[in-house]
Amino acid sequence: MAPTPAAPKPGSGSDPERPVHIVFVGAGAVGCFYASRLHHPTHNIRTSLIARSNYPTLAAHGVMLQTHSFGDYTFHPEAVYPSVPAAATAVPEWDYVIVTTKALPDRSDDAALIAPLVTDGRTCLVLIQNGVGVEAPYRARFPRNPIVSAVTVVSAEQVSHGVVRQNRWTRVSLGGYVDSASLVSGGAASAGGDGEELGRRGAECAAQLADWWGRLGGIRDVEVKDEIDLQMVRWHKLCINAAFNPSAVLSGGRGNADMVRDAELRAHLKGVMEEIWEAVPRVLGRGFGEGMASPERILKSTERNVGSKPSMLLDWEAGRPMEVEVILGNPVRIARGKGVELPRMQSLYALLRSMQEVRERGREGKL
Ligand SMILES: NC(=O)c1ccc[n+]([C@@H]2O[C@H](COP(=O)([O-])OP(=O)(O)OC[C@H]3O[C@@H](n4cnc5c(N)ncnc54)[C@H](OP(=O)(O)O)[C@@H]3O)[C@@H](O)[C@H]2O)c1
Repeated sequence: MAPTPAAPKPGSGSDPERPVHIVFVGAGAVGCFYASRLHHPTHNIRTSLIARSNYPTLAAHGVMLQTHSFGDYTFHPEAVYPSVPAAATAVPEWDYVIVTTKALPDRSDDAALIAPLVTDGRTCLVLIQNGVGVEAPYRARFPRNPIVSAVTVVSAEQVSHGVVRQNRWTRVSLGGYVDSASLVSGGAASAGGDGEELGRRGAECAAQLADWWGRLGGIRDVEVKDEIDLQMVRWHKLCINAAFNPSAVLSGGRGNADMVRDAELRAHLKGVMEEIWEAVPRVLGRGFGEGMASPERILKSTERNVGSKPSMLLDWEAGRPMEVEVILGNPVRIARGKGVELPRMQSLYALLRSMQEVRERGREGKL
């Protein structure tokens, strides 16, 4: 890794002459909800959105939020941009670039996409996405920038262009990211030097964002973790996502509660979760803590979640690409790199990826 220059921190909002410039890439459910809790012009924190298909609506009217936690309100961001180049031209230096697209590394290289927004060694990159291994392409492309990895349990959806509904939950967990894989094996990050400095700056950015989201944005359950604990949260959420999401598609389109009431599917879901549970100590060097919901508890609480469909099933039904690589492919590969096979996950991965491929070949008339 190249030496990290002694770079000033991203803006803190304390200098009246220097606003903090924050931009969200991906103005969907998660992006609009968390951006709306992070725009505080009176504190000199100015949050903008980069939108795509919903750009005309957002530019004209802002975002209508219908929230369980904060009531209904309209969010008028600092600016809405139709593209990354437009945002890069408008603001010479972005302090924070927050990526809230779906994580689809097999479809698009979003680290390359955001490059025009990133000032080398300064801009802090924040990734609020599901799955594991999402940080790696950003760390490879931006070796000198602080990265904050973030996991949210929010339940939110964009019900129509510019209308975002938050159904429940607000929790977001944040942690600096250097390179967890080398951290676990005692590599770059734990070896001191540049890794240590990057880790420190990532942790500072995580703490700063947590303060703004919590104190100014009213998100009471924002939490800051160390790098490995944050990965622990990612892998724990993966227990739910990797078990329920692909199974909902492969079982023919069944919702979560419906699946856990079927004895064979319930055993299968438990098997996937237990496989991850047993692998985690070897992948991350620590096991899940006492406070983390066990597979049995997850299954039990899902019984009440009637009518809920996992996002992967909604994507499949709408003909959109699924987050198959970050939810299945990456964990299988990361675990294999640590000498751990995840056979149930590997089967789900192979089958789901194939379903997607066959559908696409059909669309292209290549069947
Ligand atoms: N929704 C939830 O409740 C929830 C909860 C926990 C975690 N997550 C995770 O959070 C992440 C975001 O999910 P989401 O539900 O917010 O997805 P979403 O509603 O589909 O939003 C993604 C947004 O990114 C935009 N986008 C994609 N590529 C873009 C590009 N190149 N330039 C500009 N905009 C681009 C999309 O625009 P288009 O409309 O043009 O495609 C869309 O508006 C995912 O990893 C998801 O798994 C979601």
